[in-house]
Amino acid sequence: MKITLSIIKADVGSIGGHIKPSETMIRRVKEFIASEGKGLLVDSFVCHTGDDISILSTHTQGVDSPRVHKLCWDAFKAATEVARQEGLYGAGQDLLKDAFSGNVRGLGPASAEIEFIEREAEPFLLFMADKTEPGAYNLPLYLAFCDPMFAPGLILSPKIKKGFRFTIMDVNHTEGDRVVELDTPENLYDVAALLRDNHRFVVESIRTRSTGEVAAVVSTSRLHNISGKYSGKDDPVMLVRVQSQFPATGEMLAPFRLAHYVSGFSRGSHHGPLMPVKINSPISVFDGPPIVSCIAFSMKDGKFAEPVDAFDHPFWDQVREIASRKAIAIREQGFFGPAMVGYEELEYGGIVDTLRELDARFKVRQEVRAKS
Ligand code: 13P
Ligand code: 13P
Ligand code: MG
Ligand code: MG
Repeated sequence: MKITLSIIKADVGSIGGHIKPSETMIRRVKEFIASEGKGLLVDSFVCHTGDDISILSTHTQGVDSPRVHKLCWDAFKAATEVARQEGLYGAGQDLLKDAFSGNVRGLGPASAEIEFIEREAEPFLLFMADKTEPGAYNLPLYLAFCDPMFAPGLILSPKIKKGFRFTIMDVNHTEGDRVVELDTPENLYDVAALLRDNHRFVVESIRTRSTGEVAAVVSTSRLHNISGKYSGKDDPVMLVRVQSQFPATGEMLAPFRLAHYVSGFSRGSHHGPLMPVKINSPISVFDGPPIVSCIAFSMKDGKFAEPVDAFDHPFWDQVREIASRKAIAIREQGFFGPAMVGYEELEYGGIVDTLRELDARFKVRQEVRAKS
């Protein structure tokens, strides 16, 4: 059966700052999707990560379906209304345009979708991150799809050994989608050369070379590129099909034990470790740390079996401690040096005016040099 898997998420208001949406908002989204999505969706699942609400759905409308995207947009609008009534912070934050047009891409919400023919068994992982940017997934994807130290399937499985095709987007290019396709393992170092710059180059999708099927998709929207100013962090979502011709579930999860440093955290302007958390986790210290949750699914004819919380296991408690230590370590130096993101990332915020004023006050000293 040909099915489309769509994850669409947005921050449309939050309790106590940027911590979490209210239960009333979540309930509103669930009710809206259940009633308005009848006859359109095969199945759906709603949850939150920090202050972002995620709507996962299956349907047969293909990617970028105006009907499915409008349904989610309207569900977020309904939740925005609840957030306003409750006096929550940032009501409608990620709905950057007044009117819906075609699909949510370029309007604020993040989306990632795959259309495929279901395998006999169809396991996949849904990742949702808060207080960070789409490039946060660059390192885990690189390690799970390219590095046998994390993905032994690259050595042990003939299908996986054929490698993968990465589509990488230059997200700074705002006039259209600027992408490059690179095959691994031949172009491994080129993939690495791009992915190291995770503000600019972001994995958009990965295909397996054994069958040509899509293995992974990431939401690539950068909110400041849409609004021209800082309007919250991008808080990316990702879908990864797993097992058989794709990485094993455990291989895809393994790189998250690094709690690698990403940008985001308070005001989206700092570096901090990406902490793997249980689903429906709130945000805390320094508007962070950046968090990621992961749900493992199986489905048949587009219907989900009960979801499993992939980071709800004793192993990840230790990783969360490591992430906390890494967060404290970098926070000790406040805004100095690598603790805060560089100027290029800050230029959409208020510091620009300060720096412009200061720049005008600089003078080049006219030194009278002693004659030799
Ligand atoms: P099973 O033998 O339990 O199917 O596991 C195979 C596998 O992919 C583990 O990574
Ligand atoms: P969100 O993008 O999650 O709303 O966070 C914004 C922010 O600036 C937190 O400090
Ligand atoms: Mg927010
Ligand atoms: Mg958020």
